[in-house]
Amino acid sequence: MTPAPPDAPPAGAAGASTPVVIQATGVGKKFVSYHRRATSLKELFVRRGRTHGDDFWALRDIDVEIGRGQTVGLAGANGSGKSTLLKVLAGILRPTQGDVSVTGRIASLLELGAGFNGELTGRDNVYLNASLLGLSRREIDRMFDSIVDFAELPHKIDDEVKHYSSGQYVRLGFAVAVHVDPDVLLVDEVLAVGDEAFQKKCLAKIDAFRAEGRTILFVTHSLDLIESMCDRVLVLEAGSMIFDGAPAVGTRLLRQRLGSLPSDGPVPHEFAVARPVSVTFSRDPGGPPQVQFNPGDRLTVSIALDVTEHAPERLYLHTYALGPNELPVWLMETPPGGVPCAAGTLTVDFTVPALPELLGAFAISVHVSDAATGAELTRRRFEDLFGINGSQAGGLLKIDYETGARP
Ligand SMILES: Nc1ncnc2c1ncn2[C@@H]1O[C@H](COP(=O)(O)OP(=O)(O)OP(=O)(O)O)[C@@H](O)[C@H]1O
Ligand SMILES: [Mg+2]
Repeated sequence: MTPAPPDAPPAGAAGASTPVVIQATGVGKKFVSYHRRATSLKELFVRRGRTHGDDFWALRDIDVEIGRGQTVGLAGANGSGKSTLLKVLAGILRPTQGDVSVTGRIASLLELGAGFNGELTGRDNVYLNASLLGLSRREIDRMFDSIVDFAELPHKIDDEVKHYSSGQYVRLGFAVAVHVDPDVLLVDEVLAVGDEAFQKKCLAKIDAFRAEGRTILFVTHSLDLIESMCDRVLVLEAGSMIFDGAPAVGTRLLRQRLGSLPSDGPVPHEFAVARPVSVTFSRDPGGPPQVQFNPGDRLTVSIALDVTEHAPERLYLHTYALGPNELPVWLMETPPGGVPCAAGTLTVDFTVPALPELLGAFAISVHVSDAATGAELTRRRFEDLFGINGSQAGGLLKIDYETGARP
């Protein structure tokens, strides 16, 4: 476990004068998974078919205090315990160890499957859910139309929820959660299931809640959201809280963890700090795009990157031209010291002065690394193809090319 970086506020900081609305002390959650472990007939006989229980701690020693009005992001890799923590705080799972207390009305939008009864209609679920949150029938009657409107599901509201798509399910869940006038809103990553328009609407609602001084704890994998919306971020790793503090520091730590976990590989290109967004083929850097080339032609492969302010100062790129069966036919790379980059768009050009006698369609795969450390940040294989009308099928080539970079 890595301790929180030294410039992080102390774990559990809720702010000196703000009343604490969510408090977890020494919380642990153990799951027992039963599975038959017998690997031989003899073992099976000796154990007489008994099942074997494995204790598994999904959360360990979690101490956290969240003050009224805070917006807190909960981040960490898949399986790190985020959903389990939300369920424990929401009172849906009982902690194996420790105590949880939450002041005020909690509304939660948890994992798909938690919260709604599939056999009931959307309408019945709205009533059931809202009444579990302490609303009277009359109060629910009053807000019912507004819930259905927000969810944009008027035509579905009398269908059984088990026939809803996951997006429809989440729409209804979120609509109920935000209508019951909660003091504390817990939202799992399920929002990502909705389409973009609905996600925007949800984020706007979360923002409005924030402005009204309600307390929000939401799971997200988006480092941008953590930085733009949260006052604070909690990072879980294998059930332990490895960080609790400022978003700018937490996202740096997350990037580092993601970049340094070899089993997870580099960050998917959508989330990378320097994101390869497009590739174009032309004769000269910045020239008109073309996709067909002849042997002897000049070819420029231009890779456009979206560079965030979190990117390292210099990027090292290596790029393969991929032939049939994804075989690399040649490699082009920036100098080992990389090319300088600043936030914004960066285009890296690789120019082959004269294409060889090759026949085929080729794709481009690009790997982006931090030039200073050599750590790979991300990689992307583009679907775009260019063709060469030569006479030979490719093998591995040594090919001359030049490199440049332009803002
Ligand atoms: N009911 C359960 N029984 C047994 N194990 C469980 C149960 N619920 C969760 N787990 C395990 O606990 C660990 C944490 O799960 P959890 O769903 O909290 O992760 P998560 O951080 O939300 O992951 P993701 O990003 O994939 O949603 C996982 O290893 C998971 O398999
Ligand atoms: Mg989860």
